[in-house]
Amino acid sequence: MKIILHVWRQKNSQDKGHMVRYEHRDVNEHMSFLEMLDVLNEQLISKGEDPIAFDHDCREGICGMCGFMINGKAHGGFPRTTVCQLHMRHFRDGDELYLEPWRASAFPVVKDLAVNRVSFDRIIAAGGFISVPTGSAQDANNILVPKQAADLAMDAAACIGCGACVAACPNAAAALFVGAKISHLGHLPQGQPERHRRALSMIRQMNVEGFANCTNIGECEAACPKDIKLEVIARSNRDFLKASFFERPATEATGVG
Ligand code: SF4
Ligand code: FES
Repeated sequence: MKIILHVWRQKNSQDKGHMVRYEHRDVNEHMSFLEMLDVLNEQLISKGEDPIAFDHDCREGICGMCGFMINGKAHGGFPRTTVCQLHMRHFRDGDELYLEPWRASAFPVVKDLAVNRVSFDRIIAAGGFISVPTGSAQDANNILVPKQAADLAMDAAACIGCGACVAACPNAAAALFVGAKISHLGHLPQGQPERHRRALSMIRQMNVEGFANCTNIGECEAACPKDIKLEVIARSNRDFLKASFFERPATEATGVG
């Protein structure tokens, strides 16, 4: 089948960038979206042209490396689907698709459809870990975790850090990503000692990186390929507020001298 692609081409973060039209005639329905781009790139290389840059690694929906906008929708807008797991059978012969990188000042374009998401790494480094000694692997099984807490932690841990939530948000907020990371550890007994400090550090770093605040629009939840729920934002906000309250001078926090 034939697919008309309009692809954002940008040499580097300084370049202005522009759309380029490609008529791709060698697409079959069994290809993944990234395989379709691989074939186009081989054709571009054989003509001596610059291939389209895009991020990818696992190509099985678990690493979080892939992602760009397809017709204005993060990862293409298919439920619980990363762009590497999207197949061409979802499109029709002659479809025109517009491919653009994630748009957020905290995700500067590296080249074409690839953006720099190191801001996410710095948020994790600010608090997305535990420092209590929990022993070796078999000791971890001796720490009892209530089933409900284990399930909620596991749901939040499904976040792969792809950045689709930021790209879909009109504010370019990272609240869903940060909320998922804070909730994941905050539900577990091992995550309790640093729970509130973690929320404080990660949310502060989120602000430093230039992500905006959440205004409850919900586009992030709709775009998330891992079905992370808005509840993680409410939970991380509660942890953040508690931490901010106790961080204030005692007189101000309690009202007593
Ligand atoms: S919350 Fe969802 S959309 Fe955001 S980074 Fe995690 S997996 Fe991606
Ligand atoms: S390449 Fe790993 S999630 Fe898409």
